[in-house]
Amino acid sequence: MIVTIDGPAGSGKSSAARQLAKRLGFLFLDTGSMYRAVALAGHQQQVDWQTPGELARIAANCRIELTDDRVLLNDQDVTEQIRTVEITRLTKYAADNPEVRKTLVETQRRFADGQNVVAEGRDQATVVFPQAECKIFLTADETVRAQRRYLDLVSRGERVSLDSVLKHQRQRDQQDEERPIGGLRKATDSIEIKTCGMSPAEVVERLEALVRERMTTD
Ligand code: DC
Repeated sequence: MIVTIDGPAGSGKSSAARQLAKRLGFLFLDTGSMYRAVALAGHQQQVDWQTPGELARIAANCRIELTDDRVLLNDQDVTEQIRTVEITRLTKYAADNPEVRKTLVETQRRFADGQNVVAEGRDQATVVFPQAECKIFLTADETVRAQRRYLDLVSRGERVSLDSVLKHQRQRDQQDEERPIGGLRKATDSIEIKTCGMSPAEVVERLEALVRERMTTD
């Protein structure tokens, strides 16, 4: 069974999806980490960001492994490094690159082959797993999302202001929505849940109830 969870940055989808996978005993596929890892690989290899073919080659040749809660890039643990403000900014070069997307979509489908998976990202329901049995679209107001991201960054020791987080989030929302391939879109058969005013635990409860209902009706 495949469960997709798509939505904008800060909607609470990453932690909700991870916990949902744990509760269901499913594998967790964090696709944002894969785009981030490709951006980090480009940064480490001092890629020319204006030459998309260079990053595409790096994406095709690097090894990204996702375990329960760690991300490995060519055997190196990069879980923290891929979440910095700098790598978050550079990730657009990976996400905007059709060749990189093609490589990562193939990797994502291989990961899920024959498995029970909770797949989280922007294009999981629309592009990667259009056949998924349960599709969820998580959203929240932009101020709620920015506040969550701000607290998350501060807890990691980054020096940022709420204003700058909101500004960057607006740019990222626009980039994610306008991306012609793999852009953020709600699939027609996705269930939309607004997480404003819900605690993280409530979000997971709601998701689990939805998936379990789907499991019994299918
Ligand atoms: O979910 P996240 O913030 O870790 O994602 C990082 C970036 O990667 C995000 O700005 C958009 C991109 N992304 C994507 O284009 N497609 C996905 N399936 C997941 C993420």
